[in-house]
Amino acid sequence: MNARTLVGMMMLGMFLGAASVHAANAVSVTREAFGADKDGNAASLFTLVNPNGLTMKVSDYGCIVTSLSVPDKKGKMADVVLGYDNIDDYIKGSPYFGCVVGRYGNRIAKGAFSLDGKTYSLVTNNEPANIPSHLHGGAIGFDKVIWDAEAIVRGEDVGIVFRHTSPDGDEGYPGALEMTVTYWLTAANTFRIEYSAKTDAATPVNLTHHSYFNLGGHNSGTILDHTLMVASEHLTAVDAGLIPTGELLPVQGTPFDFRTSTRIGDHIDAKNEQIDFGGGYDHNFVLTGWDGKLRLAARVHEPKSGRVMEVMTTEPGLQFYCGNFLDGSNVGKGGHPYERRNAFCLETQHHPDSPNQPSFPSTILRPGEVYSHTTEYRFSVK
Ligand code: GLA
Repeated sequence: MNARTLVGMMMLGMFLGAASVHAANAVSVTREAFGADKDGNAASLFTLVNPNGLTMKVSDYGCIVTSLSVPDKKGKMADVVLGYDNIDDYIKGSPYFGCVVGRYGNRIAKGAFSLDGKTYSLVTNNEPANIPSHLHGGAIGFDKVIWDAEAIVRGEDVGIVFRHTSPDGDEGYPGALEMTVTYWLTAANTFRIEYSAKTDAATPVNLTHHSYFNLGGHNSGTILDHTLMVASEHLTAVDAGLIPTGELLPVQGTPFDFRTSTRIGDHIDAKNEQIDFGGGYDHNFVLTGWDGKLRLAARVHEPKSGRVMEVMTTEPGLQFYCGNFLDGSNVGKGGHPYERRNAFCLETQHHPDSPNQPSFPSTILRPGEVYSHTTEYRFSVK
């Protein structure tokens, strides 16, 4: 095995019956160069293949999933995540395509919070309706650093273990935060993410993954015909700055009622104050019956291809964002411009601005505690 190419390849099925779908297939993880970050540090791109031929490309720069090919109901593969062909486009200005977001995914009002009697001030890098907030970890969040990466194979599952320590004071946050994020592409056609972290001083932590999905294929246009189910009865109502007011708004009778499968486009432009603030859906749902165990949060179906994606999570909240800020200026893979609402994100997380919202589940991690979060994106067809 040479230093640049890490190959984990196993011939599977040697002991499986001839009828097994997996029998003839190998899983593999390969590594290639992927340019360098803006300081000249070399980045890598891994290609993971599961026994059914699902293929995921992942960089150690921001733990970015650059492509994910999954079959439709006829077995035809398509790449269902938005992204770029090269690292320079990610560096130049990615709207968080495919990355791990942190130290705090989503917004913190005015970039300020107090913890144990001390006030902390973070950069404000976002301003919906000219109201400044701290978004997705600040100027150099975890999406813009190169993580240590190691390929792993466990039975028929392939994965990458990413490690990164965010130093004390990083982007204004207290405490050195030591993280491990493991991406799995499993034999059951699941993209599974396991997060864990510990700190040496109390700090807010809210890690999430920010893939932009289009189950028709990344270059197939609008996502408004997808149907969506979200296991939620309330959303965290926001103000014009997309900061929670603290009110949990019942979804019943609103454009946010996805308790049964509903076409995304049906109510996205409804006359509704919350919809106005988000320019469509850009809201955090309170997942019903949160108990910290892995359970179904959402299900999406794209009728033409038949592709289905189920989102499972241990987290209490789900940000549903509809690519309302995409405007064609992000020219993606194969030169394809991504227009408004060409993708959706389902970001599993704690609620926005939790450090300033005492009634929300706490996002504070203390020394001696372990942050842990698991999310799965399960692919199938219908
Ligand atoms: C999140 C936010 C959106 C937007 C995107 C990135 O999903 O909720 O408002 O900032 O990230 O463009």
